[in-house]
Amino acid sequence: MRYALLVSPSANRVYAQSATALGCAELAAVGEQVLNGAISNVREELLGSVSYVTFDAPEPSPRSLQMAWLSNLAATFALFGLDQGKLSPLELTSWDSCGSDLISIQKYPGKTNEAFTKLLFNVTLAASAFAHEPRRPLSVLDPLCGRGTTLNQALMYGHHATGVEHDKKDFEAYCLFIQRWVKDQRLKHQATLGHVKGHPKLDLTLGLDKDRYKAGDVLRINYVNADTLAVAEVFQPRSFDLIVTDAPYGVQHGAKNDGAISRKPLELLVAALPVWRAALRPGGAVGIAWNNLVARRSDLSDLLTAHALSVCDSPAYLGFEHRVDSSIQRDLIVARVP
Ligand SMILES: C[S@@+](CC[C@H](N)C(=O)[O-])C[C@H]1O[C@@H](n2cnc3c(N)ncnc32)[C@H](O)[C@@H]1O
Repeated sequence: MRYALLVSPSANRVYAQSATALGCAELAAVGEQVLNGAISNVREELLGSVSYVTFDAPEPSPRSLQMAWLSNLAATFALFGLDQGKLSPLELTSWDSCGSDLISIQKYPGKTNEAFTKLLFNVTLAASAFAHEPRRPLSVLDPLCGRGTTLNQALMYGHHATGVEHDKKDFEAYCLFIQRWVKDQRLKHQATLGHVKGHPKLDLTLGLDKDRYKAGDVLRINYVNADTLAVAEVFQPRSFDLIVTDAPYGVQHGAKNDGAISRKPLELLVAALPVWRAALRPGGAVGIAWNNLVARRSDLSDLLTAHALSVCDSPAYLGFEHRVDSSIQRDLIVARVP
């Protein structure tokens, strides 16, 4: 069967230019990792002057893992069976457990594009041992979390989210935002602001509905305002299933490292990776987005390999590079704990 995926419209003009190519890369990587190579012939195609991602796949049953993943790609806006130029819409099954305003309300300089964050999350999850049970609540860490785009994406999917960030303003802004959001949503929750090992910390537990909250079926958000190296002192080894992070770009937003370990993204990753690696559980995976004008893919790949991580380096993973602006050429790299 041939299928056509209509790519989500992006609010960001620059991202929109790369969105279809990124959709092809996301589909190819997920197809390879989770769907045993069932997806083939992935390409960008114009149908009636609109750009689609088209591909071949076996006919999926509505509740299949294939349909679940296809429904939840960052790229997916709508999915159609494609037969001799005719499009037949297919029913999607979303993993979203709350409204998309969770991810879209916050606007600030330095925010990682929401669609790209979802894509990075998806390809990291796809590379982990947990890709076949994507709805099981996982523990997700963003050790450079800014104002929490990854944390919100994790929560959106129904996972527990932990963030570490050294910028005090980001910490305060996120604490305000998330507490207001749970109140506005009238979700049962408990928020505690305190300290851990001398670092300011927010602990929030929430129930997606009253009955689940009563039954103790809660999601946890933890945010620690500290240097990323504090991950080692604050969390037990092997605490997280996934690490998903957008590293400083080494320009503009990366320049606010007052008092932190390094201004240079590669130096930061060299210092932080042993700590992050120790925090990952067996079967876990790490996905890092970075500016490849300041560090080469081979540098990151060597670094991950040196810490006993197995880098996903098939051609499917080489299609994510895209332009953000004249000083940022963003790419991503994913590796799993063997
Ligand atoms: C590209 S931004 C991530 C933005 C985030 N994904 C968001 O959407 O808000 C990188 C973040 O890393 C933080 N950072 C840089 N060096 C750090 C360090 N040593 N420890 C903790 N955070 C750090 C920066 O302050 C910045 O917020």
